[in-house]
Amino acid sequence: MKRRNFIKLSGLSTTAILVSSSIPFLSSCSNNDMNMGNNMDMGGNMNMGQPVPVTEGNFSALFAFPPIVGGTTTLTAQNVTANSNEFGNVKGLGYSSGGLLGPTIKVNSGQSMNVNFVNQLNEKTNIHWHGLKIPANMDGHPENFINAGGSFNYNFTVNQRAGLYWYHPHADGTTGKQVFQGLAGLIIVNDSEETALNLPSGNRELPLVIQDKRISAGSILYAPTMMDQMAGLMGQYILVNGVYAPIHNVETAKYRVRILNGSNARIYNLALSNGASFTVIGNDGGLLATPQTVNSLTVAPGERADLIIDFSSMGLNSELFLISKTFIGGNAQGKQEFKIMKFKVTTQVVDNFSIPTTLSSIAPLTESMATKTRNFEISNVDSGSMSGMMMHTINNKSYDANRIDELVPNGAVEIWTFDNTNGQEPHPMHLHGVQFQILNRTGGRGTLTALEKGWKDMALCMPGEKVKVIVPFNGYTGKFVFHCHNLEHEETGMMGQFQVS
Ligand code: C2O
Ligand code: CU
Ligand code: CU
Repeated sequence: MKRRNFIKLSGLSTTAILVSSSIPFLSSCSNNDMNMGNNMDMGGNMNMGQPVPVTEGNFSALFAFPPIVGGTTTLTAQNVTANSNEFGNVKGLGYSSGGLLGPTIKVNSGQSMNVNFVNQLNEKTNIHWHGLKIPANMDGHPENFINAGGSFNYNFTVNQRAGLYWYHPHADGTTGKQVFQGLAGLIIVNDSEETALNLPSGNRELPLVIQDKRISAGSILYAPTMMDQMAGLMGQYILVNGVYAPIHNVETAKYRVRILNGSNARIYNLALSNGASFTVIGNDGGLLATPQTVNSLTVAPGERADLIIDFSSMGLNSELFLISKTFIGGNAQGKQEFKIMKFKVTTQVVDNFSIPTTLSSIAPLTESMATKTRNFEISNVDSGSMSGMMMHTINNKSYDANRIDELVPNGAVEIWTFDNTNGQEPHPMHLHGVQFQILNRTGGRGTLTALEKGWKDMALCMPGEKVKVIVPFNGYTGKFVFHCHNLEHEETGMMGQFQVS
């Protein structure tokens, strides 16, 4: 993004800019990159963002399943009014007139998608198919946008494993705002391997898009302050599938709960309110090789978690909450435990499903397979020039559509290392057009979580962490982006381009 466009696109108010210039280090006229590591004296005036406390609702609104459509469909980005929550009517954005978000697109692996996309917004937008390995011109590159009133036909074949993928806008400068205001949807890819497992389905398969929102005066407000741009914009209300504080009635059975963290910046440390364990069966790129039992699970923006939650031993009329527990994640994240959604057991049934001990076969990639290692320094923020604007960077560079950062030979297997050793903020890093495996994490948590085995398109780098991923570039040639999926970080420059050829 060109810096002169930044102020305009970021939605910062003049007040925020004036305030920022009174913060001593931000108003520095130095062009040098500023390392905001532990030795940075923030003078008490500012830190790397503050938590935005969550306000729990009364959990009386009914959980909603997004409508399901096939791979041939029309999506229309538009203004919508959502009313299925405690706020009454709320204005936001959606891909159909029904409310926030968009339908869940269900396709089989090998099938083609043909989406007639119509932009009824009054600004540019596009669709990125997050996690899908598709041609570059269909991928929703930030420069491939559709102007207000325009339309575009997204047409490609889905050639990959079964899994939970998603779609959202990705036009440069409007991504954070449009996602926050409601534009996102799920893509469920099925294949024969997964079908053979007979996992819970129908009313026992719950898709959950978890997002935090700021709602005021009947609208989803997106006006990031300087502080929000530092930490990422977080909201005080947690919505699930566009509904604030929902309740869902369940049977005494095992449920497949397929979660997308569709938040701009908020990380959740998912757990059950009774402390019971649950089972991770899949993640960004589909099923894990074997099920993993956990008591809590950190899920960053953009990440997916495919879970089995067992209600079978619960008594009739008992209640259970999906919650987010506290965690260590810099100054702005993980400080509060809060409830996300309520389950109430209302029907007693006999459930014979047991989780298969083997889910899939995944050949682990090893370091020796890689022909190149690339290191990405993601700790630093650029204090900007005279403008005093905050820019997030990768290798001390902020996004420039006219610059290719990495040239990758098609077919190569590479190690990409994201180094947040000196950073103070979590950065969920994402690559377009590929699925990768995470090799290891050093510093911080020092280990991989249950969600980080198998195939991934996201790698969360907490402050102090260095995360090494191994990427087979075996998809399509062309120009793709990689970026931090904290969308305010992305919008303030934390994105680069790689060209596969
Ligand atoms: Cu959901 Cu560029 O990503
Ligand atoms: Cu993506
Ligand atoms: Cu980031």
